[in-house]
Amino acid sequence: MVGFASRMLNQQMIQFGNPSGQPDRLLHADCLVAQADLPDECLDLVYIDPPFGTGKTRKNRGQSYPDSRSSPDVFVEWLASCLAESHRLLKPSGSLFVHLDHHSVHYVKVHLDGLFGRSRFINELIWCYSVGGKSKRRFARKHDTILWYGKTADYAFYPEQVHVPRKPSSHMRVVMDENGEPVQEKTDRKTGKVYRYPVNRGKIPEDWWTDIELLNRSDKERVAWPTQKPSRLLERIVKGTTKPGDMIADWFSGSGTTAVVAQRERRNFIVTDVKSEAIACARARLSAQGEQLAAAGAPPADLHCQSSADLSDGPRQES
Ligand SMILES: C[S@@+](CC[C@H](N)C(=O)[O-])C[C@H]1O[C@@H](n2cnc3c(N)ncnc32)[C@H](O)[C@@H]1O
Repeated sequence: MVGFASRMLNQQMIQFGNPSGQPDRLLHADCLVAQADLPDECLDLVYIDPPFGTGKTRKNRGQSYPDSRSSPDVFVEWLASCLAESHRLLKPSGSLFVHLDHHSVHYVKVHLDGLFGRSRFINELIWCYSVGGKSKRRFARKHDTILWYGKTADYAFYPEQVHVPRKPSSHMRVVMDENGEPVQEKTDRKTGKVYRYPVNRGKIPEDWWTDIELLNRSDKERVAWPTQKPSRLLERIVKGTTKPGDMIADWFSGSGTTAVVAQRERRNFIVTDVKSEAIACARARLSAQGEQLAAAGAPPADLHCQSSADLSDGPRQES
């Protein structure tokens, strides 16, 4: 495959006044074209949120992208090269997060078990929300599934960065410790062992997330791109699995949520989208936030926006 560099049509460097380090990259390209140019083991985190194969044109505020209905097998076949390239590009300590819903997640899970090895599967994260329409013919479908795989058993995880508050619990009493701090406490009836959990230290979240709502129309964060994910969702993934200076990729960037979180959290990134309108949306978010960070005295890396010459402006999907 011809690499991205040899197909570049136009480029723009947005400078924020931070001369150190390499620029972040926002690419108008098919994911496979962008991936082909990158060396092995250069990424700490890949998060992808591809079209789910719903058969609907996804629309919001005049913007849209097609999400063709395909059988789960065809969907897996479509995504397979992107997943294989993601595996090649991850460092040994790197992680892949694949965000899907009921349409194909079970089929992609089986495929990823084959690609990474079953023992590299870490979590099936259930992101729950409640807004939006509900059918009267079944229980409301109100969650997405995010599959997490580590490239090796030595994958990076920084749970203390993403602790959530401890909730009152019916099977634990709250007592004060020697410093006057609240502690949840329980005694194992069989062994008599006492377990103590400082309330203010919080805890590692469970693998079901109910504390991050889907963006609604009036949300301040909302921009003109369909199926935009909340930045708090990406923040948990980014902070839990990378540290400042690490390199993050998102091959289906859409409005640029992953890049926006990476920029804010001082990580580097390379993100791609096949639609020029998505790239324009992400560029606007990143330059506005970059200027704010610069004005606050913490300029992020410069932003290199590039466009691939022979790009067809539509997703490489089955119809
Ligand atoms: C579900 S949206 C991503 C939304 C994003 N996570 C956000 O928060 O805005 C999927 C995106 O994948 C893009 N896309 C579809 N096929 C692609 C391909 N082959 N390469 C790169 N991007 C693609 C679509 O244009 C769309 O913007």
